[in-house]
Amino acid sequence: MLVTVKELLAEAEKKQRAVGAFNVPNLEALRGVIQAAEMLEVPVIIQHAEVHENLIALEEIGPLMIHYAKQAKVPVAVHLDHGSSLTACIKAIRLGFTSIMYDASLKEYETNVKETAELAQIAHSVNVSVEAELGEMTNSSVGSGEGRESTQDELENSDLFTNPDQAKSFVEATQVDSLAVSFGTVHGKYFAEPNLDFERIAAIRTAVNGCPLVMHGGSGVSEEDYGKAITAGIRKINYYTYMNLTAGESVKRLVNTTQQNELFFDEVSLHATAAVKENVSQALRIFNRL
Ligand code: 13P
Repeated sequence: MLVTVKELLAEAEKKQRAVGAFNVPNLEALRGVIQAAEMLEVPVIIQHAEVHENLIALEEIGPLMIHYAKQAKVPVAVHLDHGSSLTACIKAIRLGFTSIMYDASLKEYETNVKETAELAQIAHSVNVSVEAELGEMTNSSVGSGEGRESTQDELENSDLFTNPDQAKSFVEATQVDSLAVSFGTVHGKYFAEPNLDFERIAAIRTAVNGCPLVMHGGSGVSEEDYGKAITAGIRKINYYTYMNLTAGESVKRLVNTTQQNELFFDEVSLHATAAVKENVSQALRIFNRL
C-alpha cells in the first residue's frame, strides 16, 4: 500500500519508534527491503538517491518502486533522497513518489530557506511530503556516495552540526514535514566508532515543536545508539551502506564456495536479495523496537 512519509512519521511519533528508509538502486535491494518489511509487518520507506543515478536512473527504478509499494502488504512510502534541483523533485513527483527530500544544506542559510519553502509549497499542493536538511552530514568516502566527501577531522566537527535555534526558524519558514539533522553521523562506512550528540537531537526536537527528525548515515550505528537516538526524537533512519556491504560480502562467500562448480547469475541475484532481507530485518527490528 502506497502512503506518504508524513503519515508514517506521525504514526512513528505516536508509537515512539523510527521508520527505516532504505536506498534501493537495484532490484535485489528493492525486493529484499519489501520482503523484510512484509515479514515483520512494519511500514517502510524506499528511496532513490540522486547520487545513485550512475547505478540506475530515476526513470528506470522509480516506476518499479511505485509498483512494489502498491503491491506490498504493509504501508510503503516512496521517497526521493537528496534531491538537488527543482527538476529532480518534479520528476519524482510526476512518477508518483509520495515524498521528496530537497537538500540545499550546502548553500547559504537564506538560500536554503527560500528554495526549500518554494519546493514545499509546490509539493504540498499535490499532497507530497518534504524533507530538508540543516547542518551538514558529510561522507567518509567509502560507501553511499551521499554528502560532501570530508577529511577525518571534519567527520567529528560539531561546527557542522545542526543548531537548534536555527532549526526552529528553518522549520517555521519552510513548513517542511521532516528535518534531516546533523549530530555526528556520516554517510558511508565508519572508520571510528561514531560519537553521537543525543542532547542535541533532544534540543532540536523541543525547538522544532513536533517536526519529525531524520538521521542520515544510519547504517553502521550500534543497537544502543539507535535506541538512544530514537528516544531523543529521531523518527526516520536512512540506511544503505552496511546493507549494500553485507550483500556484497554474502555474494563473495557464495563465489568462494562454488569455485569448482558453475555459478549462474540468477543464484547470485537471489543470494543478494536474501542477504539484504536479513540485514534490513535486523535494522527494522531495532527501529520498531520489536
Ligand atoms: P548510509 O549509506 O551511511 O547508511 O547512509 C544512508 C543515507 O543517509 C541515505 O540518505
